[in-house]
Amino acid sequence: MSITVLKGHIVSAPKLGALETLENGYLVLDDGIIQGAFSSLPERFASAPVSDYGDRLILQSFADMHLHAPQYPMLGLGMDLPLLDWLKQYTFRTEAQFQDTDYAREIYRQLAQRLIRSGTTRVVMFSSIHTDATLILMEELERAGVTGYVGKVNMDRNGAPGSYQETTEESKRETLRFLEAAADFSRVKPILTPRFTPTCTDELMAWLGQTARERGLYVQSHLSENKQEIAWVRELHPDCVEYWETYDKFGLFSDHTVMAHCVYSSAREREAMKRRNVLVAHCPDSNINICSGFVPLQIMLEEGLWVALGSDIAGGAELPMNRVITAAIRMSKAKRIESEWAQDFLTVIEGYYLGTTAGARYFGAGAGFAPGDPLHAIVVDDAALPKTRALSLRERLERAIYLMDDRSIVAVYSEGKKVV
Ligand code: GUN
Ligand code: FE
Repeated sequence: MSITVLKGHIVSAPKLGALETLENGYLVLDDGIIQGAFSSLPERFASAPVSDYGDRLILQSFADMHLHAPQYPMLGLGMDLPLLDWLKQYTFRTEAQFQDTDYAREIYRQLAQRLIRSGTTRVVMFSSIHTDATLILMEELERAGVTGYVGKVNMDRNGAPGSYQETTEESKRETLRFLEAAADFSRVKPILTPRFTPTCTDELMAWLGQTARERGLYVQSHLSENKQEIAWVRELHPDCVEYWETYDKFGLFSDHTVMAHCVYSSAREREAMKRRNVLVAHCPDSNINICSGFVPLQIMLEEGLWVALGSDIAGGAELPMNRVITAAIRMSKAKRIESEWAQDFLTVIEGYYLGTTAGARYFGAGAGFAPGDPLHAIVVDDAALPKTRALSLRERLERAIYLMDDRSIVAVYSEGKKVV
């Protein structure tokens, strides 16, 4: 037993719309594993060392369920084109640079640092087509304390032939090499990553589906993001009524599959996601930046879909997940305005849940600060924010979600360890 205690104002979101607050509470850990959150310290832990965070907030850390590591260098650039042109003119070129492993090391080290300093301790991430750079990315994430899933991208058509596209054989061979090398990592695991239907031949998709099944691997991809994209997928797969079926027919649409965007998913597509326990990675900042559209988030939540949030950098231009939460709130309010106020909008408390517990579940974690889970938490000092009347913990959480940045995050715990 190695008991340690964190003291401070403990604020967690165990379920959608619920907030648990403990003023001057005690979070007790055994070897980094949560034993419980208490309003007064139980006698049996009285001799344990205490990290006293005083008047600061102890919050759940964030989970970013969809982002593209090799797009980090184009953050804030190239926002003037819709998806398909954006991919061809900016994105594939940027990702092609990760052929260079020194460059990959430099950029991925910066990215991993920025993630952890922003309070993101869990990710589901796309790399590029390059196996070596992907392994470097995994090393840098582990070194910084970021946990989760990383995928070497598969794309064997409609990329940039000659500079950023694989042959089908290369794609299979490199995926196997990636999976073999990825077995050496413990906190970051591999995930199969067909980029999206237009960039993957049927042969490759079928092989990936079979590999997922044989090896028990999860899958991530993109779904129903943009109208032009959807029309293209329809041409490519005339036998499929809807986009999701182009994944499903190859065994790539099952439990824990992460589908980014789902902007235009019909009731039938949403029902299929719910039935299969597919996770919708909602990426509001990206959807607005590259003019994809407005996600019917409230409808998805009412239907009971598994929705969590993604920064989708660099379609998204905000890496910190508190800013992705506020983007989701703004998008849901834009939808509300558009619907003559007939629809509800996302509250800050609900947004905090989507950015934390909803994603954490993907990694096997329980709700909020659940006993038995390794601690994933951030400590937020909001004393530098404008002085105002005395605020409740709920108000302080709301304000922190809108206003905090890495200067406010004074400590980060990931997988039970203090990493910042
Ligand atoms: N669809 C296929 N590739 C991409 C990508 O890199 N970003 C986004 N937003 N959508 C995609
Ligand atoms: Fe994406």
